[in-house]
Amino acid sequence: MTRRPPAVRILATGGTIAGAAPSPCDTSGYRAGALPVDELLAALPALDDIRLDARQLASLDSKDALPGFWQMLAGELARAQADPDVDGVVLTHGTDTLEETAWFLHLTLALAKPLVVTGAMRPATAASADGPMNLLQAVQVAACPQAARHGVLAVLNGRIHRARHLRKAHTHRVDAFDSPEAGPAGFIQDGYVGWLSPAHRPAPRFAPETPLAPVDILFDYPGISTAMVDAVLRGGARGLVWAGYGNGSISDRIEPLLREAGRQGLAVVLATRTGAGRVGRPGTDGFIQAAGLDPYKARIALMLALAAGIPPSDLQSLFDTLSYE
Ligand code: SIN
Repeated sequence: MTRRPPAVRILATGGTIAGAAPSPCDTSGYRAGALPVDELLAALPALDDIRLDARQLASLDSKDALPGFWQMLAGELARAQADPDVDGVVLTHGTDTLEETAWFLHLTLALAKPLVVTGAMRPATAASADGPMNLLQAVQVAACPQAARHGVLAVLNGRIHRARHLRKAHTHRVDAFDSPEAGPAGFIQDGYVGWLSPAHRPAPRFAPETPLAPVDILFDYPGISTAMVDAVLRGGARGLVWAGYGNGSISDRIEPLLREAGRQGLAVVLATRTGAGRVGRPGTDGFIQAAGLDPYKARIALMLALAAGIPPSDLQSLFDTLSYE
């Protein structure tokens, strides 16, 4: 029996990978999500060993992605995963909120097949655009059955990152993404997929379709106005991620306000504004510590956890587990 080549479905949502500028010299004056997925495919070399089918789901600049967009994607991706004609899926996405979408999918999707998110830092019309190679390599990773055992992945600039660790760390470099503390899960070079860490695919923890709880993020800074906390409370948030100094420290003027907000039922998670490292401060009873999750990932975890009705007493162990599972 001859084995059929793997089939990869590409689901396109816009971003700079589909961006168009008036001149090939422009790497920042462009419109994200301007080109349809068929034009992105036209920039790829012919692939004899992988079958592609592509669908346009959206044409967004990902700065405008809302939580409902993550939920729509989770539904589409679950359907693609269940399709017997699909062996792996690539999601093209703007890089600005790629890490949030990938993390939401990590927390909500049961993966039986590879799921790889990719994007680009230069528009498709730029000289030396990075999108075609990122898309090609994402397709190659998605066609690799072992990739499903690593959970939701992102392929960017030749590196394979796990959604759990992924972070956009630069405004314009092609090499804009990293995985602080953990390092990349692997790499891809000329179609060769190398894994740098053992396979690890945690089970999904939350149903994607439950309406998400509103959660805000505030960053501490010298002289922060106490009005910021009032604004969060007045805005109807059920949770707040406090991106504090260093190990999650809170300015003295703010701490009593956060404690009072906690007594009134606001779930307050202490994270760090440093960009990496575990938050584990002694003497923070009444607050939840983000452990190893950065503020953006802590926010999404809290939105899902509060929506799922996880009791306050269980939130700390959830954050500890999500950080290091
Ligand atoms: C976007 O996030 O949609 C625009 C920026 C990018 O993709 O790099």
